[in-house]
Amino acid sequence: ATYETVLVETHAGVGLIRLNRPKALNALSRQLIADLNAALDAFEADDAIGAIVLTGSEKAFAAGADIKEMQALGYVDVFLDDFVARWERLAAVRKPVVAAVAGFALGGGCELALMCDLVIAADNAKFGQPEITLGLMPGAGGTQRLARSVGKAKTMDMVLTGRMIDAAEAERIGLVSRVVPAAELVDQAIAAAQKIAGLSRPSVLMAKEAVNRAFESPLAEGIRTERRLFHSLFATEDAREGMAAFLDKRPAAFRNR
Ligand code: HXC
Repeated sequence: ATYETVLVETHAGVGLIRLNRPKALNALSRQLIADLNAALDAFEADDAIGAIVLTGSEKAFAAGADIKEMQALGYVDVFLDDFVARWERLAAVRKPVVAAVAGFALGGGCELALMCDLVIAADNAKFGQPEITLGLMPGAGGTQRLARSVGKAKTMDMVLTGRMIDAAEAERIGLVSRVVPAAELVDQAIAAAQKIAGLSRPSVLMAKEAVNRAFESPLAEGIRTERRLFHSLFATEDAREGMAAFLDKRPAAFRNR
């Protein structure tokens, strides 16, 4: 499929989605979110795809919601349209999503990265929640996912002052999984996604679900969810194969069954 504002490619088991509004630093317009969601739906439905990479350009992952579009909206418009609800599609994807972030990840762009599972940052990446400087505030999970991800002190600093942080600080505070040289960003993100895509899909999807429960439930409930999912994997052929392959000292041949 082709889309107006995102480009899609596949790389041996991995679906790559590249945000592509270069003149607006990938500002997240209504059209872009619709295109992103359609591309996510297609990769979710494609059995050949085991993981997804979401990236932007070298200059910008995404500079936030489209301010030109937002400027035209009033309260009743955003309320009736449930503005931003559609952005949550990314957070509901079951397959792992690796964000490959170069340049600016601001406002809604930072929030999209926070919905991904791994965040691999180029050394030139800059993260921020500058909505406050527009008289707004984060609206796509920034106050919630960022706080759960990096804690109150850094979240308040970013959300109340709009200060941007660089890749090194983002890694130090736990906002990103890895920092890599900008020139290697997409290759490294694809390699990480391919590693995941080559594993047993039931175990991967359940592991993702279990980790995400940590952010949504009390500890005892999260531990119970984990144990139920862990037990259920003993019913898969892939777990039999994975353990047998280890003991036979050979690579596992997972069949996703
Ligand atoms: C619309 C944007 C945009 C945005 C950049 N552009 N960000 N257009 N919405 N969020 C456009 C500029 O208007 C400009 O268009 C072109 O992209 C290049 O941007 P410049 O500002 O000229 O580039 P530069 O000087 O390099 O500065 C980069 C920047 C700056 C620091 C990223 O663009 C910036 O501050 N952008 C806004 C960041 C922001 O406030 N984001 C939060 C948005 S609110 P022209 O036509 O002039 O060339 C948000 C709410 C989320 O995200 C809540 C859920 C919806």
